[in-house]
Amino acid sequence: MALINHTKSFSMVFLAMAILLFLAGEAQGRGLRRRGGDVCGRADYPGLCRAVVKGQKNPYAATQATVKRLIAETVAAKKAAVKGAGKYKQVLGVCLENYGDALSSLKTSLSNMKSRDKGGFNSNLSAALTDYETCEDTFSEMGIRSPLANTNARLRHIADNGLYLATLWR
Ligand SMILES: *[C@@H]1O[C@H](CO)[C@@H](O)[C@H](O)[C@H]1NC(C)=O
Repeated sequence: MALINHTKSFSMVFLAMAILLFLAGEAQGRGLRRRGGDVCGRADYPGLCRAVVKGQKNPYAATQATVKRLIAETVAAKKAAVKGAGKYKQVLGVCLENYGDALSSLKTSLSNMKSRDKGGFNSNLSAALTDYETCEDTFSEMGIRSPLANTNARLRHIADNGLYLATLWR
């Protein structure tokens, strides 16, 4: 009788330990999945990245969402750049061209994605990023304080995040 009780309590302890180990493993697994699920964790601008991808966990879809947002914001920047006069008019003309070029590169980069052409995607998205820089540089070359500084910085940061997100899929 004593022996039976002993065996019973031993197996209860064993069962309890097994349950605890299982639960600990589950908790750890969930933690890892959550960390791994944040595609923006290692982006250069994680806050902006998260605001753009809105919880998207799939890196390919997150990249696509980022390029689409960049297209929408470039269209908006282009509209804003039309409203310039005087000394700004000349520079804004350059920016309008840059934004137009960026838009065509961004549209091509979406096709590059569909054909899983990572090299083409990177060069087209990088080309758009350079267009935003060129617009900004034109102001400083003319000694004019850029009225588009914040817009161009944001566009560059979104493009930079897009280049990062593209490293997460094949
Ligand atoms: C954009 O991608 C195309 C392939 O679709 C490629 O031929 C072209 O060179 C790329 N553009 C740039 C600026 O790299």
